[in-house]
Amino acid sequence: MDQTRILFVCLGNICRSPAAEGIMKYLVEKEGREDEFFIDSAGIGGWHIGQLPDSRMRRHGKLHGYNFNSRARQFQRDDFDRFDIIIGMDHENLSDIRWKARCQDDILKIHSITEYLRHHPGHHSVPDPYYGDDGCFELVIELLEDACQGLLDALTK
Ligand code: 4NP
Repeated sequence: MDQTRILFVCLGNICRSPAAEGIMKYLVEKEGREDEFFIDSAGIGGWHIGQLPDSRMRRHGKLHGYNFNSRARQFQRDDFDRFDIIIGMDHENLSDIRWKARCQDDILKIHSITEYLRHHPGHHSVPDPYYGDDGCFELVIELLEDACQGLLDALTK
């Protein structure tokens, strides 16, 4: 069976996109559908390459039953060849990804995470929590749980 290949992208690949990757993997595994999906994350910047997610993101993930353990890597142009759906967390990410697109087919793969929100009207991004407090990290998880379930359901129809 052809896998659906999903890439989550944020700025540093140590907070939001690894959390999205971890939550999406959790939801897919809960339904026993690991074989149907390949799920990964990447950052626009290369500052944190090779690092585990930020300790605050990991701690808040654990509080909700997740284990965020991916290693940071930088988004690359050939990710457009390797993935079917490329999902940015905020307008800046989306604009940076679009700049790297080579053709219309690449552009068509780019989506905002907020397209998949169902219970958070009025949210137009998953805000960067890096300089924020505990509440910012909790909001990241709350928004991503909503959006990842919405994404999984959208891909199931
Ligand atoms: P993320 O958060 O994009 O959700 O991984 C950030 C992590 C690191 C930095 C910025 C945002 N940074 O500037 O190092």
